[in-house]
Amino acid sequence: MRAVILVGGEGTRLRPLTSELPKPAVKLVDRPLMAFMLEWLAANGIVEVVMACGFKPDAMRDALGDGGRFGVQISYVAESEPLGTGGALLFADQQSPSGLGERFVMCNGDVLTDLDLAAQITRHREFGAQATLSLVPVADPSSYGLVRVGDDGEVLGFLEKPEPAQIDTDLISAGAYVLERSVLDLIEPGRAVSIEHEVWPQLVGHGLYGVASRNAYWLDIGTPSRYLDATADILSGAVKTKAGARLDDQGLAIGEGCRIEGELIGPSVLGDNCTVAAGATVGPSAALGDGVEIAAGAKIEAAAVLDRCSIGAGAIVRNAILSPDVKVGDEARISELAVVGSGVSVAAGSVLDDGAKVFASGHGP
Ligand code: GDD
Ligand code: MG
Repeated sequence: MRAVILVGGEGTRLRPLTSELPKPAVKLVDRPLMAFMLEWLAANGIVEVVMACGFKPDAMRDALGDGGRFGVQISYVAESEPLGTGGALLFADQQSPSGLGERFVMCNGDVLTDLDLAAQITRHREFGAQATLSLVPVADPSSYGLVRVGDDGEVLGFLEKPEPAQIDTDLISAGAYVLERSVLDLIEPGRAVSIEHEVWPQLVGHGLYGVASRNAYWLDIGTPSRYLDATADILSGAVKTKAGARLDDQGLAIGEGCRIEGELIGPSVLGDNCTVAAGATVGPSAALGDGVEIAAGAKIEAAAVLDRCSIGAGAIVRNAILSPDVKVGDEARISELAVVGSGVSVAAGSVLDDGAKVFASGHGP
């Protein structure tokens, strides 16, 4: 069975982390963000993937290649203008050499989950459904697709971005779907179509089912705070991933060629060729990319510090994200969900906090 992954969004809320690279290509812990979804699909028996791209397909191809190292085979299709979630699906079917097939999976590309997709595919078959949605509980469904479901799994109502007064369940669409080919007939060709607004409501009562996963991990990685939550949850093992499985019994995974003189506190991951000077502390919940240099007395905690960053003596990076090639001066303090864009130099002694976003020159907000 094939899967189509929708990756048309621009990832604007994660800027400047996503100013230079599309979100799926940005590193999360130790691999491109999209790798987590590809490895999850492979673990659920799906190895043929069509990447339905809108934004910067070349950068995506550079980051993911043919998918071989993630256990899948990827082909890419790129819309010349955004076709919406439904339009992108139809386009992917038309552009793929042999189409998507009689039954296939569709996934929103911005989700980190370990839910049991193989079981959902089995349930879909048992239901005899046209479309089966994965469902997860959330505290506030208002920014998702709310799904009312009966005891037998049949969907009784679908409301995209419900108003507070309409919320009468905690279950939302998790963005992973098993679909029969007949669903494509409900998408009008030649224009942008939202599958959430135009197709799911139409399918209610006509073979639309849902499978709830109340104990699985699920997160839509749309904001800096959620990117850091995802980092912490991968490191702690709250979500089951190949990246998390690399950690040893101290909760550490250290790349090749690292020079460690300071203290490492798990769970944390260091890429290749990192340097941690004496008196520096890295962790808990720190993810360092490749070639990161941490000077004496610096502290990195609950943070993502991507490739080739250097952190000056006595600096603190806590609950913050540094894009590749950032230079942090001595005694600077970066915290409280600050995000620094690639190549930026943060002056010695400066303070970035309260969600500060620092863009590289030439990259506006
Ligand atoms: N190729 C392509 N073209 N992809 C698109 C397009 C497009 O025109 N528009 C959106 N996408 C992709 C996004 O990149 C994302 O991976 C996915 O489709 C969903 O779009 P979002 O913009 O992230 O939607 P959302 O998060 O507000 O809501 C969706 O996801 C929720 C779960 O996270 C809906 O499907 C909700 O029903 C669902 O609950
Ligand atoms: Mg989303």
